[in-house]
Amino acid sequence: MDDLRELFELTAAIAADFYETLPDRPVYPRATVAELHAALSAPLPEHGLPARTVIAELAAAADPGIVAEASGRYFGFVIGGAVPASIAADWLTSTWDQNAGIFAGGPSASVVEQAAGAWLIELLRLPQHASFGFVTGAQMANFTALAAARHHVLAHAGWDVERDGLQGAPKIRVVVGAKRHGTIDRALRMLGLGAPTDVVPVDAEGRMLAGDLRLGDEPTIVCAQAGEVNTGASDRFPEIADARDTAPNAWLHVDGAFGLWAAATDSLRHHVDGAERADSWATDAHKWLNVPYDSGLVFTAHPESHSAAFSARAAYLIVDDDKREQVDWNPEHSRRARGFAVYAAIRSLGRTGIAELVERTCAHAKTFAARLEVIGAEILNSVELNQVLFRFADDARTEAVLAAVQESGEAWMSGTVWEGRPAIRISVSNWQTSEDDVERTLAAFRELAPA
Ligand SMILES: Cc1ncc(COP(=O)(O)O)c(C=O)c1O
Repeated sequence: MDDLRELFELTAAIAADFYETLPDRPVYPRATVAELHAALSAPLPEHGLPARTVIAELAAAADPGIVAEASGRYFGFVIGGAVPASIAADWLTSTWDQNAGIFAGGPSASVVEQAAGAWLIELLRLPQHASFGFVTGAQMANFTALAAARHHVLAHAGWDVERDGLQGAPKIRVVVGAKRHGTIDRALRMLGLGAPTDVVPVDAEGRMLAGDLRLGDEPTIVCAQAGEVNTGASDRFPEIADARDTAPNAWLHVDGAFGLWAAATDSLRHHVDGAERADSWATDAHKWLNVPYDSGLVFTAHPESHSAAFSARAAYLIVDDDKREQVDWNPEHSRRARGFAVYAAIRSLGRTGIAELVERTCAHAKTFAARLEVIGAEILNSVELNQVLFRFADDARTEAVLAAVQESGEAWMSGTVWEGRPAIRISVSNWQTSEDDVERTLAAFRELAPA
């Protein structure tokens, strides 16, 4: 036991040291792949080593290749940090090592997911009766929701997809926007639905031009989006939900990996008005809720279709059963008890803390947009949420400035191609980002991209 306590204390000290170095370490590490291989790749060890040695050596060898995604000056992709309570709960999740696939594998893991699931439904203003699942990320949330959708529309067409598969099944029309996230296509592929049948054009911010949406009698799945990954723009859900309502057998899915969190605020929720009318939703806890990876969330307004797609048991056996068998709502069988970290994040922030986190990060994005414009950047999106998309006058300059800021170690953000030209994206998704982080990042731009 003494050895174990020592090991845990050493690990906690390494974790605390990591956080203490965040203000000074380069946001993106400078080690080369060759250096990391030299430090970490070795022949299969013949004999074991004491855990303390393993952890001390692993931490020292990995450190030069660790990206400071926990830093308030990391703005790449859409990557949240992790609030302290959720990190600690995540450690305990590993310590307790519950199998959260089934109730018997961890009663508290199951109950905590029920409690957190109810909180999330309230926070995200989803229908009270919605079903939910704790999955690895928005990719699997999209997959899970679309599996429920596939069951639902085919069942309405008189086809049992769980029994008979897709061979000979009625064709499903799948409607997506031109700026959907790639994980929608991957989910459709995994579900045997192939590529989308209809790709709806989008406006300048990536919103589906839903006015022309005409749905018919055939089984149909419409995939809308809350939060385009570059602009943050959300589709106009009332129009899309109206179109869904005109069709007798259509399901509306919303991929809201980060954008759905606007619903948790009073000031920004209008961006996702009407999203609550969808049939399913995908979002992430590991982005804006600032829970450690991997933590995605799926919800559906049709619990019977959700469980029919995954349960190994008849759906009627589930009703009135207080013991939630998570396997009925998830694509995985055995899995990590992801609910603990989500529960801890919500408990530590509270409703007001979550709203404040979302609003504060969006305010930082507005500051970035206004101040970058002053140094000659062209802002390409209407900055309403936490995403800032911009470029400089010529493409070579955009690429050079991005590379220089990335290499400076002061901040890190990713590039993209927008309307055929290089662009830079800043995503403010981390609870840690302070005004000082914004100023330090702007100073790097001023120095490396003089007007
Ligand atoms: C709109 C959207 N959908 C899906 C995803 C995929 O999320 P994950 O990487 O958690 O699977 C992202 C990631 O940025 C996203 O922005």
